[in-house]
Amino acid sequence: MELKEYLTSQMARRLFLVHPPEPPPDLLLSDPGEGIYIGKTRWLNVPVFWDYKKLINSHIAIVGITGSGKSYLVKTFLTRAALIWNSNAIILDWTGEYNKWVRQAGGTVISLGKESLNLLDLAGLTVAERSKQIMSAFEIMLDLNNFPQERYDIEEALDEVYEKKRNPTLVDLVNVLEQDKKKRAARLLRRFLVEGSDFFARESSLEMGKLSNSGLVCIDLHSLPTEEMRSLTGLTILQFLKERMRRETLSEEKGIRLFVVVDEAWKIAGDDRSDVITIVREGRKYNFSLIVASQNPTDMHKTIISNVGTMFILRLVLREYKDYVRNSLGYSPYIDNEISRFGVGDAALNMIFSKRTDKSSTFLLNKIDGEEPLFVYTIEVGKMNVEIEREQFSRMLFELGLTDDQINLVKVEFERGDGMMDASGFVSLLEKFGYSPSSIMTFLRQLGVEEKYIVEVFSLTKRRKAIKGVVDLTLKEGD
Ligand SMILES: Nc1ncnc2c1ncn2[C@@H]1O[C@H](COP(=O)(O)OP(=O)(O)O)[C@@H](O)[C@H]1O
Ligand SMILES: [Mg+2]
Repeated sequence: MELKEYLTSQMARRLFLVHPPEPPPDLLLSDPGEGIYIGKTRWLNVPVFWDYKKLINSHIAIVGITGSGKSYLVKTFLTRAALIWNSNAIILDWTGEYNKWVRQAGGTVISLGKESLNLLDLAGLTVAERSKQIMSAFEIMLDLNNFPQERYDIEEALDEVYEKKRNPTLVDLVNVLEQDKKKRAARLLRRFLVEGSDFFARESSLEMGKLSNSGLVCIDLHSLPTEEMRSLTGLTILQFLKERMRRETLSEEKGIRLFVVVDEAWKIAGDDRSDVITIVREGRKYNFSLIVASQNPTDMHKTIISNVGTMFILRLVLREYKDYVRNSLGYSPYIDNEISRFGVGDAALNMIFSKRTDKSSTFLLNKIDGEEPLFVYTIEVGKMNVEIEREQFSRMLFELGLTDDQINLVKVEFERGDGMMDASGFVSLLEKFGYSPSSIMTFLRQLGVEEKYIVEVFSLTKRRKAIKGVVDLTLKEGD
C-alpha cells in the first residue's frame, strides 16, 4: 500500500506538466464503508469516494444542462448512501421526476395534492421560533420587504392568533387580520385560503416529525397548483428539518443520517433569506446533508457555490453560466473548456478538503459511475397492478416460448408506456404471437393476477376487438 502510494505520487509528479493536477489519492480513496463511490479521475484513474469527514461540510451542489445527468447522480448517490449508512433521504421533487424511481426503490411518495400542511403548526418549536420562520417564508414568497406595514400587521396578528387559539390555522390568522381591519395584509394571505390552493390552511395530514427517519421519501411538489406553493412548501419543510436537525449533533461515526434533495428549485436556492443558504453557510452545524441541483447555476446563490464542500459541474454550455461558476471556484481555462465538451455523466468535481491549506480543488472525472437501478414493469389489470422486474419478466416470456424478437417487441411496448402496459394490450400482443387464450391465462396466473381479473381482461380484450375490428395496439416492425 505504501509503495503503491509512493508510485502514484511519483507518477502524479511526472504527469503534472501534461495534465491538470488531481488531489492526492489519500484524499480521494476511502474504505467502501466510509465513503460513497463516485467514479474515477480522468488522468490517474484514482477511484473517488465521497467522504464527508474529509470535507469542510457535507453539502453538495450539482449543476449541468438538462439531460447532463444530475438526477441520475442523485439517485446513484442516495442508493449507495442507503446501502452503506442506512441513510434516510427526503427529495423535494419540483418536477415530479423522482416519484417513479422512489416507488421502485421501495420508498414512499407523498403527493401533496392530496395532503395538507398547516403552516402554523409548531411541530415542537416555540411560538417565537415558528413565528420567525413563518415571517421569513412570507418575506420571500410575498415580497414583504416592500410592504413594511403589512409585514408588521401580519407579525402582530400571528402573536395574537397563537395567544387566542391552541392549534390555529391560516384561516384563523386571516380572520384576526380582518377583525382588526387590516384589509391589505389579509388580502395578501387570502390567496392561500382559496379552495384547491388551501394546502397550508387546513389541519396537517403530514407528520413532519416522521419525515426525517422514514427511509426514502419523495415529496411530490409537482401536484401543487402553483410555483409559489411549491416554493412555500419546500421552504416550510426545510425550516422544520433544519430545526429538528439542529438538535442532533453531527456524528462522525455513523455516516450521514439524512440527505435532503432540492432539485430545480430556483426560488429557494437563489434568495439569500432562504434556509437553503443558511444551512450551507452554517456548514456542519446541522446533522444532515443538503443536495441542491439546478440546470441554471445563476439561480443558485453564490454563497452555495462557494461554500458547499462538494460541487459537481456537469455539462454547461452558456458562457454566462460557465463564467458564473468559474468566478466562484476559480479553476483553469482548460477545465472550463472541457465542461462544454462533456458527454452525459462526465463531471468536474470541486471539493473543499478540511485538511488542506490551499482550500479548494477542481478536477475531472471520467464519468459518474452509476448504479443501474432495477427496472420494474407494471401490468395494469383492472384495479390490481402486477409489478415485475424487467429481466425476470424477460426470462418468463422466454420460458413461455417467445422468440428474442418477440420479447423485444414486448419491451418496446412497456418502454413506450414508461414501464407500464395495460393487461388487455399485453394479452392482444400474445394473441398476435399465436398464443391460445388458455396458455395466456396460465401465464397471467403465473404472474400473480387474481382469477376475477383474468376473466375481466379477456372480456375487455374481446370487446375492444369487437368495437375496432382490430387489436388496440400498433406493432411497428423493426422499431
Ligand atoms: N453517469 C451516467 N451514466 C449513464 N447514464 C447516465 C448517466 N447520467 C445520466 N444518464 C442517463 O442520461 C439521461 C438523463 O439524465 P438525468 O439524470 O435525467 O439528467 P438531468 O437530471 O440532468 O436532466 C437519463 O436517461 C440517465 O439514465
Ligand atoms: Mg433532473
